[in-house]
Parts: sequence; structure tokens; C-alpha cells
Amino acid sequence: MDAVATTLPIESRRTTLREVAEFAEKLAPFADNLREQILAPRPRKTAPIFTISELADMCNLSRQQIQYLVTKSDQGLPSGTLNGTGRSRTFTLAEVRTWVKMASDIYQTRLAEPDSNFRGRVLTTAQLKGGSAKTTTTVCLGQALSLLGRKVLIIDLDPQASASELCGLYAEKEISGEDTVLPYIYDQSIEGGLSSKVQSTYWDGLDIIPGHTFLYGAEFLLPARQKTMKGFRFWSVLREGLEPLRSQYDYILMDTSPSLSYMNLNALLAADALVMPMVPENLDFISSMAFWRLFSEVAGDFLAYEEDKVYEFISILLSKVDYGKTSSAPVVRQWAQTAYGKWLDPFEIPASSVMSGGALSFSTALDITNTHSTAKSLQRVKQPLMLYARWLDDMFVKNWKGEA
Ligand SMILES: Nc1ncnc2c1ncn2[C@@H]1O[C@H](COP(=O)(O)OP(=O)(O)O)[C@@H](O)[C@H]1O
Ligand SMILES: [Mg+2]
Repeated sequence: MDAVATTLPIESRRTTLREVAEFAEKLAPFADNLREQILAPRPRKTAPIFTISELADMCNLSRQQIQYLVTKSDQGLPSGTLNGTGRSRTFTLAEVRTWVKMASDIYQTRLAEPDSNFRGRVLTTAQLKGGSAKTTTTVCLGQALSLLGRKVLIIDLDPQASASELCGLYAEKEISGEDTVLPYIYDQSIEGGLSSKVQSTYWDGLDIIPGHTFLYGAEFLLPARQKTMKGFRFWSVLREGLEPLRSQYDYILMDTSPSLSYMNLNALLAADALVMPMVPENLDFISSMAFWRLFSEVAGDFLAYEEDKVYEFISILLSKVDYGKTSSAPVVRQWAQTAYGKWLDPFEIPASSVMSGGALSFSTALDITNTHSTAKSLQRVKQPLMLYARWLDDMFVKNWKGEA
């Protein structure tokens, strides 16, 4: 072995910056080709179909009650579709959402009636470490909240646009820099403001403002403005842009890149609540502390302008949790409890192939239609996700009730 290794020719890997600059062009045909091979034809994403039991669960009713209500056509509840054998009834996502809103005991926010004073809530998902399930959590949370009858907008602030892909957009082909929040960051007086960038998705009740590589532009523009424009507050651009959208959505969820960028500071300061997914492993925990150290330093600098800023809550969600014998989760969970105290959530999302397997097919656990073969493993991740969404929603409902 050694003899072979030492006789290998040593090629020069010297690379000029010019070559790097021209590299993208060289890579393009290859990337295009690969994309065609792997991704095409990419079927349009479709929302899952729900069984009567799932609908019953979501409405907190029994199957019998659903069966009964279906026959009462005067109630205006969607009757779903009777399948081939005529024995099982299934429901579309839109039908499920109608049921939840009409037949469950869910609190109707003032969004249900047009009310320009209603303040939908902004949640920002943040974490310094990549791969910590930020995007998965954001999109699943959006889906889960919509299953509670809420209207949700996801804003993808990550130049990698993963949340947009999960929301069924073909990032490379269908999104341009123009479609993102970036034009608004450049010019706050664009027609229609941020609302003009909203797109609907394959998922009823879930809209999106997509992400694109060009979002990096904000990292040059915002600090430059800060230097040249008197009174400019680089961290409040997004917050101001979101203001008119609050009366149109119950929730606005922002997915961020793994950094403390200027864009992400905007998202952190615009948020009413922060969600930090964390994988309970040593390096991830250390990363999370680095995030809070950095953010608290920056927050200290903002305090003079942001004395009244309040987060309704901060939620640290253990994700991709490994319950195996050799897992570091018990130790890190203990550290997290000590460091974050009541910020640490009572829910955890287990590591599951249902979640990671979806990455290739651009789907989440909530996208998958329940079948007998997947039911158990799906339920293991769907259940904590739904409980988590319900728990978050309950906290906001309490605050909304106080405002009504
Ligand atoms: N509960 C989970 N179990 C297993 N894999 C997961 C889970 N949640 C997310 N993943 C996978 O982990 C990877 C990183 O997740 P992602 O949400 O993209 O993280 P981030 O946005 O923080 O970079 C993805 O491949 C995703 O499918
Ligand atoms: Mg991500």
C-alpha cells in the first residue's frame, strides 16, 4: 500500500482566483445535465389524502360523529370521496381544513373575519448549525398549523431555498431573485410591498415568499445603507415589510440560513417568537451556545433602540433525537436543560428515516399519505410535530384572546 501511495504523481492544484471566477461557467453544463438526470421529470407535489380516522382525530370527534355529520348535508361540511369499494371515505387537505374550522373546537382567530387590526404572529427558525432541521421544522410546522385551520405564510430567507423546494417549487427553474424579499430590501417603496411576492403552494392554506441565491445580496446592501443613510435601521427593514401581511395570516414563519447574517438579524428582530431546533449532540449544543452568545452581544447593541422588544416565547426543540443505547442525547438533553431551562420544549422529534428519506423526494413527514406499511413510523414523528404545533398555537391563542 505504502509503495503505491508514495509513487503516485503529485499534480499541481494551483488555482488562480480567475479560474475560480470562471468555474461556475465550466460547471454549468454538468450541473444542468445532472439536474435533468436526477430531478426530471419532477412530478408536481400533491397534498396527502386523509382517512376518516385522521379527520376524526384532527377534529377531536369520533368516526361515528363524522359519519353522521357527513349525511347532514345542510351543515355544509364537505362529504369527501367514497372510494372504489364504497366503504372507505377519504378527504382532501382542503376538505380537512374546512372540517377543522367548522366542526372542531379550534379557537377562531379574528383572521376568520376580515379585520385589519388582527395581528398574525411571526415565528423565526434559527440556529447556527446547518443540518439541524431548521427547514424541516419550519415547513412541518407550517403544514401542521394549517391542519389546525390556520392560514400560514412561509418566508424563505435562506439563499439555499430548501424551504421553497419543500413547498413544491423547483428552485433552480422557477424562482428568480425578483420573487424573493430582496426587491423589497432594496426598495421599500415597491408596489404592493412584500405582499406582491406571495405565492400559493400545493398545500391549501400555506403560501410562500421563496428564497434564491441572490438573497446574499442583502449582506452587502444592508451594511452599506447603514453607513450611508442617516437614521437607517438595517435590522428593522423586514419587520416593517411584514406589518401589512400580519392581518392576512395567522402565522408567518421565517426559515433562515445557518448564520447570524444581516438578513437573519432582520428575521430575529421581526419575530414574535423564536424556534431553535437542536440535534442533541455535542457539537450542535456548542453551536447553539455560540448562537446565543453572538445574538446576545448584538442584542446588547440594539437595546438603545429596541427597549420594548419582547419575544412571546423562545422554543428550543430537540430534533433528530437518537434514542439508541449509545446516543449522546441523554447527556446533551441534560446540558440543554441546565443552559436553557424553560426555553427547552416538552416535545422532541425523533430521528427517523421517514424524515430523512423525504429529503430526496422533497417531501416532509406530513406530505405522506398514511398507509398500513408506513403508519407506525410516520406516527412516531407526526404525532410530536402535531402536538408541538398545537402547543405553540395554544400559547398564541391565549395572547390573541387577551387582545380581542
Ligand atoms: N427527525 C429527523 N430525522 C431524520 N432526519 C431528519 C429529521 N429532520 C430532518 N432531517 C433531515 O436532516 C437534514 C437536514 O435538515 P434541514 O431541515 O434541511 O436542516 P437545516 O435547515 O437546519 O439545514 C435533511 O436531510 C432532513 O431531511
Ligand atoms: Mg435549511
